[in-house]
Amino acid sequence: MNVLVTGGAGYIGSHAVKSLRLAGHRVVVVDNLSRGFRAAVTGGVPLVVHELGDWEHIRRVLHGNRIDCVMHFAAKAYVGESVDDPLTYYRNNTAHALELLYAMRLTGVQRFVFSSTCATYGEPSPEHIPINEQCPQQPINPYGWSKFFVERILLDHCRATPDFSCAILRYFNVAGADREGEIGEAHDPETHLIPIILEAALGLRPHVEIFGTDYPTPDGTCIRDYIHVEDLIDAHLLCMNALAPGRSFVYNLGIGKGHSVREIIDSAQRVTGKKIKVVQGPRRPGDPPCLFADPARIQHELGWSAKVADIDAIIDSAWQWLSRHPRRCTEQHPVD
Ligand code: UFG
Repeated sequence: MNVLVTGGAGYIGSHAVKSLRLAGHRVVVVDNLSRGFRAAVTGGVPLVVHELGDWEHIRRVLHGNRIDCVMHFAAKAYVGESVDDPLTYYRNNTAHALELLYAMRLTGVQRFVFSSTCATYGEPSPEHIPINEQCPQQPINPYGWSKFFVERILLDHCRATPDFSCAILRYFNVAGADREGEIGEAHDPETHLIPIILEAALGLRPHVEIFGTDYPTPDGTCIRDYIHVEDLIDAHLLCMNALAPGRSFVYNLGIGKGHSVREIIDSAQRVTGKKIKVVQGPRRPGDPPCLFADPARIQHELGWSAKVADIDAIIDSAWQWLSRHPRRCTEQHPVD
């Protein structure tokens, strides 16, 4: 297939580009490089540096490359930033997705794979854990709402347009790097737990701060479901291949097991063989105590399952890349 990957210079999008390419698909990337890195687009895949909001231009890219499917990763994804600047989030994540869908309609592109998030569930009550797709969606920040609105638009569009099909994929916590160690997780600024811990192990940070040790969990720290980025991308390819008129999907993507912040730090110490200094801090606003997925639906319907389910293996994958690319953000910075 000819696949347009938006946000293909970002962490998750760049892994999708690589997997699609290796699976024999023809890939084109659109990325505005606001958070992504030119060097993350590997294998000579064409990169169009442009804003998705410019639907006229995107229409030309879709048409000129005879695109069959769009995988839409481009988004801003910092919860705190979304609270401080909601308009930017609704514009980037919601309005630009709408413009993209409009351009797709004009060019007759009928397959869409959408990166959504478990943040659309907000703070599920304990009886909804593990979280399945029927769990009520009540986002608690503009980031979650910005993705929720796109889900709503997609479901309405699917109902109204029988030939259009989409997969809505609600990610839990994505981690790790590709097995060749070519691309990995690079955010600027970095806010995610696993890279922060590994940076501390490398001596690039003095310590790791645990945000809250008084949660109603066995060790008092937050529990999350960490899924390896290559397993996450495998699910995207399965979904893309299963899309057909009248066939759309909504799936949670997690491994179905939760790990606390302390368990992640312990695992990182085992994997790296380094003692990591830990500081206990206050809760970070907006952090739900416990989020992990029930991935049964995609397992039963598409036969997907996580190949990397062991937390040490997930962290080792992140470590193998990060320890070889300690200055990853500057290394991968776009060179214009
Ligand atoms: N944490 C710390 N110290 C840190 C960083 C994180 O204790 O320095 C904790 C957080 O409080 C949280 C856990 O580690 O309990 C995981 O935090 P991350 O920032 O790595 O990930 P989140 O669960 O906050 O965020 C992820 C995605 C978001 C998405 C969100 C949905 O990265 O894009 O899940 O809840 F919105």
